[in-house]
Amino acid sequence: MIFLLLSLFLPILARFQPTCSFIEVPIWVSLRLNSTIGRFEWELPYLEDTIILHELQYATPSSQWCNSLSIGMINWNNPTAIISDFLIDSYWTSYTTIYTGVFRSAWIQLLEGMIYKFRVRSQSLHCGYSGWSEIKYLSTPKNLTAYIEVQGTSYYNPLDTYIKLNGTILYKGSFTGFILSVINRCSLQQVFQEIYDTYSNNTQADMLAEKIRSYDSNHIIIIASSYAWEPYFNKNLAHALTELGGYLTLPFTKPIPIIPIYKTEEETVIGHPYAFIGIPGQRYITGQNFEVLRNSTNYFNYDDTIHNAIPTARIRVNLVFDTYRQFYMLENNHRIFRMNKV
Ligand SMILES: *[C@@H]1O[C@H](CO)[C@@H](O)[C@H](O)[C@H]1NC(C)=O
Ligand SMILES: *[C@@H]1O[C@H](CO)[C@@H](O)[C@H](O)[C@H]1NC(C)=O
Ligand SMILES: *[C@@H]1O[C@H](CO)[C@@H](O)[C@H](O)[C@H]1NC(C)=O
Ligand SMILES: *[C@@H]1O[C@H](CO)[C@@H](O)[C@H](O)[C@H]1NC(C)=O
Ligand SMILES: *[C@@H]1O[C@H](CO)[C@@H](O)[C@H](O)[C@H]1NC(C)=O
Repeated sequence: MIFLLLSLFLPILARFQPTCSFIEVPIWVSLRLNSTIGRFEWELPYLEDTIILHELQYATPSSQWCNSLSIGMINWNNPTAIISDFLIDSYWTSYTTIYTGVFRSAWIQLLEGMIYKFRVRSQSLHCGYSGWSEIKYLSTPKNLTAYIEVQGTSYYNPLDTYIKLNGTILYKGSFTGFILSVINRCSLQQVFQEIYDTYSNNTQADMLAEKIRSYDSNHIIIIASSYAWEPYFNKNLAHALTELGGYLTLPFTKPIPIIPIYKTEEETVIGHPYAFIGIPGQRYITGQNFEVLRNSTNYFNYDDTIHNAIPTARIRVNLVFDTYRQFYMLENNHRIFRMNKV
């Protein structure tokens, strides 16, 4: 009986008191960027109810982001593709609300050189909260002029071997063998530096090879020579370098005194200035590795008239900031991927 009465009266009551059974999720109309100010607009599908507020949230990369190997990788066949690993929640901070209000739009001041993800939801009087909208990504531009400069020297060279990051000297001096310096691509912090004496110690080439191989594509590898490095240079180290995209030292894998084919008998085979900058895992990518190997500056090439002009192996490369992945790339002038909007 009661049931029957209710079913008779409810439709009549409903006419006077709006009810809501369902609120759809907001739909993005536009996300636009003017320098670092974002403008966000969304709309709600038809709703016969009073909107109380809209809530806009964002999240930014977490500290895990820089350590994720997959984020350092770019699919060069489709560089604007979002690799699904980017979307893993643990790479992002939790959401923060940046706007609540009745308007279906908001202007938000953002940080430069940052990537954000955004979502929005709405709340109506009788329906409560809608679900969250589709997630949208947006990255803001940043003007950066970072660079790496490296100089490898050799035999009879009056100049120092050095490594500079953005003008800051990471190393300057002389030694025998190679110096290895490693920089994190996300923070630009130096994470390792060591000298390997492949001139006089027969275990150091293997140690250097092993060290090089221990770094992933989140790092920039820098190598430079001083005095001479050839006597205990070996295949293992040459292959570690080729894995990075450095091929010029391969002729030196023959143990001394076997002379590389382009050398003549009377020349010694030591004293080649060498420098390398590269990113592990990107050896096939044009412009993500740079290598200089110069002719020997040994006794037989020595000439007083060029005393102050003995060649060094010098590389200077600009770094560009990929705001989408929060990584630095080596600038290569043609395939650099810069994304403002996703
Ligand atoms: C971008 O912002 C600047 C300063 O806030 C303003 O003067 C300019 O008109 C804006 N440009 C566009 C296209 O909205
Ligand atoms: C970057 O530099 C250019 C030219 O100096 C300037 O017009 C632009 O507003 C700068 N962008 C940022 C994000 O600082
Ligand atoms: C590198 O140095 C330039 C010029 O001194 C500076 O504008 C830039 O912010 C520096 N970049 C980094 C990443 O330190
Ligand atoms: C060669 O290098 C190894 C490893 O660093 C070291 O233990 C050894 O003492 C070195 N040998 C010489 C002769 O310096
Ligand atoms: C390297 O040195 C040798 C011997 O002095 C010389 O004949 C040759 O031309 C040099 N090669 C280059 C590329 O300078």
